[in-house]
Amino acid sequence: MLLPYERPTRPAGAEGLVTLHDARFASRAAEARLAEAVGLAASIGVTVVHSAVLPLRSRRPATLLGEGQVEMVKGAIEENQVGVVVVDAALSPVQQRNLERAWACKVIDRTGLILEIFGERARTKEGTLQVELAHLEYQRTRLVRSWTHLERQRGGFGFLGGPGESQIEIDRRLIGERIVKLKKELEQVRRTRGLHRAARTRVPFPVVALVGYTNAGKSTLFNALTGAGIYAQDQLFATLDPTMRAIRLPSGRTIILSDTVGFISDLPTQLIEAFRATLEEVASADIILHVRDVAHPDSASQRADVIGVLTEMASGPHPTLDENWPQRTIEVLNKADLLGGAAAVPGADAANSVVVSALTGEGLDALRGALDARLAAGMETVEYAIPPADGARLAWLYQHGEVLTRADSDDTIRLTVRLSPADRARFEQS
Ligand code: GTP
Repeated sequence: MLLPYERPTRPAGAEGLVTLHDARFASRAAEARLAEAVGLAASIGVTVVHSAVLPLRSRRPATLLGEGQVEMVKGAIEENQVGVVVVDAALSPVQQRNLERAWACKVIDRTGLILEIFGERARTKEGTLQVELAHLEYQRTRLVRSWTHLERQRGGFGFLGGPGESQIEIDRRLIGERIVKLKKELEQVRRTRGLHRAARTRVPFPVVALVGYTNAGKSTLFNALTGAGIYAQDQLFATLDPTMRAIRLPSGRTIILSDTVGFISDLPTQLIEAFRATLEEVASADIILHVRDVAHPDSASQRADVIGVLTEMASGPHPTLDENWPQRTIEVLNKADLLGGAAAVPGADAANSVVVSALTGEGLDALRGALDARLAAGMETVEYAIPPADGARLAWLYQHGEVLTRADSDDTIRLTVRLSPADRARFEQS
């Protein structure tokens, strides 16, 4: 019986890996792009033994690469006993199959690689379902005698022996059915998550979401601010699903810090859905902390990518982010230590930005202060007289506002409270 999907297992006998990058992205230094691809490959635990940038004069339909390049790579594969080649570009199913034949080893393209990473990192139910869905949709296009995960899982029943058309059609149908089922399940999970979010909105603490390019240092900053030992490693995508934790700012105000999955350059369109949970957290955040690696050679274009995605979310007929998001954003210029300290960071004095080193702790107090200031800026100071018997309303004010003065008498408690406009409206309507 065919199992349409299982988490991909690491290719058996992969002794090493060649990563190739076709230099078609003029806006980025090809070497930096290659370094990202090597990082992505290494993050799923494979050993990269060779990597190269291969400039493409034309994109050949049969193999993408030129004949000489295919030969050259073959040499490197034999020399290094390579089991898997990652081509950091989108390969058509035909190109993938032809390269596998020419090189006599497994070939993964960029989408395949990111899917492997997502598969390893997905933690929540929704994340897992989204990855599975993306994987199936990717597989479906590759069913025609290509060498897919599906075939490996099917062992002796795979296509390697040359299956008839009917078997391929059965597989397509089963995948199609599984996709329909998954979409239903995803809807269900989203509805439940919507309920959870609604519950949180009723008991709101300001939410501060960390966004940024992969490897910018979001998890490290999250840990530095929360003092918690959540997963932070020099691995790309250490955080696919949102991770949230409550912390206290110097004012005593409680906020919820939310870590999100990293953005990556040129994310294949089929995988965009897999980011949705994270992006939705950003949409409901009171403050967006855009964490940047200022020491990265591509720092400026990474910034543009992140801003581009957020801008896209805020536009179109069904925006998922309100258009005021830039006013809610603070740029965190991270890794200042690598440039020799905060003073040396270009743009350090810009409004709306704070220079930090999540690693050394430099600038973190200023960042906490900036969060407090930003949250206080929109606050209103209000006076209330509450009957002492109304303990619940009193407690609510303490929880959501900053109580500035309090005068108790027998029949009333008079409070001066700093509240957000939204909380003020909630309180006064309750
Ligand atoms: P993803 O989860 O992949 O999106 O990455 P991330 O943005 O959460 O990055 P992470 O916190 O995992 O950090 C990536 C690497 O950068 C790790 O090796 C960190 O030790 C390093 N790093 C983070 N902040 C700093 C910093 O301020 N200075 C230096 N020198 N290294 C840092």
